[in-house]
Amino acid sequence: MTVVGSGAASGGAQLLPEVLAFSSSLPLDRQLLREDVIGSMAHLIMLSRAGLVPREAAGAIRSELVRVLEAATGLPEEEDVHMAVETLLARSLGETAGMIHTARSRNDQIALDLRLHVREQSALALEELSLLLAELAERAGRERDTLLPGYTHRQRAQPVSAAYYFCAWGAMFARDLELIRTAASPEMPLGVGALAGTSLPIDREVVRKLLRFERVTANGLDTVGDRDFALDFAYAAARALLHASRVATDVIDFCTAEFGYLRLDDEIAMGSSMMPQKRNPDLFELIRGKCGRAVGNLNALLVTVKGLPGGYNRDLQEDRQALLETGPLLVSVLRMLRLGLGRVRFDPERGRKALEDGATAATDVAEALTQAGVPFRTAYKLTGALVRRCMDQGIALGRAPLDLARQIDPRFTPEVLRAADAADSVARKKNAGGTGRASVDAQIASLRASAKAAAAAGSAVPRLDRLLAELKEAAL
Ligand code: ARG
Repeated sequence: MTVVGSGAASGGAQLLPEVLAFSSSLPLDRQLLREDVIGSMAHLIMLSRAGLVPREAAGAIRSELVRVLEAATGLPEEEDVHMAVETLLARSLGETAGMIHTARSRNDQIALDLRLHVREQSALALEELSLLLAELAERAGRERDTLLPGYTHRQRAQPVSAAYYFCAWGAMFARDLELIRTAASPEMPLGVGALAGTSLPIDREVVRKLLRFERVTANGLDTVGDRDFALDFAYAAARALLHASRVATDVIDFCTAEFGYLRLDDEIAMGSSMMPQKRNPDLFELIRGKCGRAVGNLNALLVTVKGLPGGYNRDLQEDRQALLETGPLLVSVLRMLRLGLGRVRFDPERGRKALEDGATAATDVAEALTQAGVPFRTAYKLTGALVRRCMDQGIALGRAPLDLARQIDPRFTPEVLRAADAADSVARKKNAGGTGRASVDAQIASLRASAKAAAAAGSAVPRLDRLLAELKEAAL
């Protein structure tokens, strides 16, 4: 039987190839090569400065690490990316290569790689989030006068503007900003070794500073078993995609013939292989569908960690697929939603038609009566009676004749009846959070501010390419 792998991870013993294949995380964690090399460089620089690795050896190892990263193709078959890198170093440097693993375990190494990965992905997600928020603010700004019904229970409820919809969608994503930002882990795990730390005189602060973390983790036993940062990121992603899925459903519904408020541009409308007339919203259905993957990934991570004893357990390697999928999924959905929403057109005529009978402004009529001194519950009942009377006679509430209204109650006035106008209804809701002009302006301004804040938060995150460039040059 052919035996592969260096055996370095199993005390020199050779694993059965089947067992190695079953246990290897390399097919997935090869994606963490850049993170792994960056972590190794910072660790190496610290070891050199602490006098634990001679400067010359450290220089040679660093050059080799750079080469490994640049020649990213050929990683040898090993248990994981960490062993693959060490094996490559050993091939060219021999025994000297082994110095890199001084005061280090793969347990703290993978904890670092994953944190670096989450940090990078959260920066990318914040950039996309910023663009999406800016797009929503921009669209809202241009659709202040396009009216359509707002819905509760998927029944027409009250008149709103398309701008108000864009702002509502934006409000959900503005909340995701904080969640994604905090998922970028501030703690540096390297230096705790397998679990208990090391008797060698290392300096974790040097590594922390080189890698731009805010603090070092407090306890090794906790550190090597901790995947809270992964859970936080997966939750942030799942919630943002949940939001995307809800926007997608509004768009999907609104571009049906039944609702008809939206039209998809040719650039995003997809056809059917059989029905020539179709303009399908596949893009938005896929956005909605991908939400399921994000929720599944969060669940997979939660279940992986549940009930594990303290310290590192190999079960944790099963975090890989779920976590590595999360960042790119989040980034691509935010991007696709932005591109998609930039290519849907509201049809003002359809919106106006849906509001024409005035029924959605019944609350406004009741509120106008209330302003004229009628207690709200009475006004509600009187307006309800008027709505029913109008429906029986096939008259729109907005066109209810005054004498018809006065047959119900003499407190109805021409001014009260004018409240059934949809545009007035939207304009009159002047409170914060309402549909009125000043309120919508404030909401748009707030979306713009969130877009800026997301961009700033994204650019405040230390990026891998920058770190790598710095570590190549840093004094040994
Ligand atoms: N491949 C492992 C993982 O991804 C690295 C840590 C292995 N540690 C160990 N003690 N076997 O979790």
